Amino acid sequence: MTVSASGRAPLTPTYDRIGVGYRHVRRPDPRLATLIHRALSGARTVVDVGAGTGSYEPTDIEVTAVDPSQVMLDQHPGRRKILARAEQLPFDDGAFGAAMAVMTLHHWPDLHRGLAELRRVSGRQAVFTWDPDHLSELWLIEEYLPEIRQLERARFTPLSAVAEALGAHTVLPFPVPHDFADGFQIAYWRRPESYLDPLVRQASSTFALLPASVVEPAVARLRADLVSGAWHRRHADLVTRESVDYGYRLLIAGTAVPVPREAGGGGS
Ligand SMILES: C[S@@+](CC[C@H](N)C(=O)[O-])C[C@H]1O[C@@H](n2cnc3c(N)ncnc32)[C@H](O)[C@@H]1O
Repeated sequence: MTVSASGRAPLTPTYDRIGVGYRHVRRPDPRLATLIHRALSGARTVVDVGAGTGSYEPTDIEVTAVDPSQVMLDQHPGRRKILARAEQLPFDDGAFGAAMAVMTLHHWPDLHRGLAELRRVSGRQAVFTWDPDHLSELWLIEEYLPEIRQLERARFTPLSAVAEALGAHTVLPFPVPHDFADGFQIAYWRRPESYLDPLVRQASSTFALLPASVVEPAVARLRADLVSGAWHRRHADLVTRESVDYGYRLLIAGTAVPVPREAGGGGS
């Protein structure tokens, strides 16, 4: 059942428009899930803010999902679902052991207020996002769609500012594996033919925000380069790599993650 936070401003419809079928392309990747679950370990309750369809939520902890898109919450398999924004969380101070927010900060109209809300309602915060100041850039942007650069710089806040606002004590890099399961815009860095698929593009808000008059000619050029072999000639080095650090980071703030017995020093 979805509960709406009453008396709030109208909720953003962006993912009500682009979120249909999200679960089929945006499948949680087990390696990223492990990283996030470790950051949440020890918490008995978690609020997932910008939860979408519930990717990366631990299954052994009670999770409350929050999202402003009904289309996304309708695809979420959980029982505790609240229609609300990060900037106005309808919970008491310290209501949860931990909060998680995965690939959602760039959609929040007021990032600082949203992060302050995460800190208010939870003891620990685990936030996964992308750093626009990171230097290595996906070939798709450099060679086909430079329009993405400006769009993403406008949406994503530099990691240093996010870390400061969150009071993060830990920043963990996540190099993207070549077979990454979750269809972020970056996911297919070693599988260029995937960008030819309209369903893959639709599941990424980056593509959804660009006009077809920009995307379609770029996709046509990529298709031609794949047919002629030009793409593979240019990227012979890339296709041998297992993972690439494109600037994705997990930030952890608040109460410390308990050290597992096998990793810790002592204790009887
Ligand atoms: C890319 S999806 C990520 C969903 C999920 N966390 C995941 O990892 O698959 C971004 C989500 O942020 C939500 N969102 C947009 N604006 C928001 C806001 N102001 N507060 C909280 N969530 C928001 C969208 O509705 C969408 O479900």
